[in-house]
Amino acid sequence: MAKYLGILTAGGDSPGLNAAIRAVGKASLGAYGMKLVGFRDGFRGIVHNRTVPLDDASLSDIITRGGTILGASRDKPHKMEVGNQVMDMTDVVVENYRRNHLDALICLGGGGTQKNALRLSQAGLNIITLPKTIDNDVAMTDTTFGFDSALEITTESIDRLHSTAHSHHRIIILEIMGHRTGWLALGSGLAGGADVILIPEIPYDTQFVAEAIRNRSKAGKRFSIIALSEGAFPREEYENMASGNGWPPGSGSSGLTKKEIRDRMSSRTLGLSARLQELTGLESRVTILGHLQRGGAPTAADRILATRLGTACARLVKDGIYGVMVAAKGEEAVPVLLEDVAGKRKTVPLDHPWVQAALKVGTCLGAPIQ
Ligand code: F6P
Repeated sequence: MAKYLGILTAGGDSPGLNAAIRAVGKASLGAYGMKLVGFRDGFRGIVHNRTVPLDDASLSDIITRGGTILGASRDKPHKMEVGNQVMDMTDVVVENYRRNHLDALICLGGGGTQKNALRLSQAGLNIITLPKTIDNDVAMTDTTFGFDSALEITTESIDRLHSTAHSHHRIIILEIMGHRTGWLALGSGLAGGADVILIPEIPYDTQFVAEAIRNRSKAGKRFSIIALSEGAFPREEYENMASGNGWPPGSGSSGLTKKEIRDRMSSRTLGLSARLQELTGLESRVTILGHLQRGGAPTAADRILATRLGTACARLVKDGIYGVMVAAKGEEAVPVLLEDVAGKRKTVPLDHPWVQAALKVGTCLGAPIQ
């Protein structure tokens, strides 16, 4: 009997999703003779049973495309907005899984998706996930697809900012996505030769950053590029947080919406710019890259990664191995238990080779580090 698979893409989109859908699809249909159906717009699609037939023709010619042909959303099955209410729709997901005669549901997503997937697995469904996000912060995998593509965009942006910052003797702060972890800012800061890299893992000291910039001026370099994670924050806020005010600062018990948190992040960036201008005497400007970082075609590395993980996923379905995420470990694609992934986050460790290399080339990381 042919196995029936469902597939959905949840959370924010990222380059490589279509390559992964194609890989899961081509391997499951072609190599293993299964049948595949897509659900639109993440978990909302399976709640509303909005299906997309997926066959060889619809899987063709999508490897190069950014975004996701299935659509995405940040909906959670157990806390879904329905009309004016927030409802637990887990039972409806289970019902629609059965109605479509699925043997397994494949969920492509980041940290939030791993948590939602674990809940569905605990509700009795056969679930496999693939790790996707430009933030590269999913636990238990070396990397996630989407990250390499975003890294190219942010690095090119730093390259472009260099010449204008140099011409005008300015500080330019580039705000880079990564509200909880600094992989993207650190990687592109390193690749683009940023003078200062600020990430959430290292609360920054504005005076320390200003001093690094003033030292550059004294050495005749009257411009500086700062690669700043949107989630980086000053040490004073960290101290408040340590006294129990929640994380990100202000978001704990204050009931801020995601949008308010986001606005606060950008206003923090503007505040840093104004303060550095005062402290260094250099003009300062801010560039917020925003969703440009998630758009466009995936890089070759992301296409290969998505294809490796997607084809390994089809093989796991064939073998009946569920309740796992397909992780990248070196050249291997290995199943790791959803329990070991969900609710965890891969942050940048301070002894990571990228951090150590940045320090060795004289990059300021916002605070003294051993
Ligand atoms: O989680 C990935 C991410 O790209 C974050 O880096 C960023 O803060 C967030 O998504 C933006 O999400 P949205 O698309 O909902 O604005």
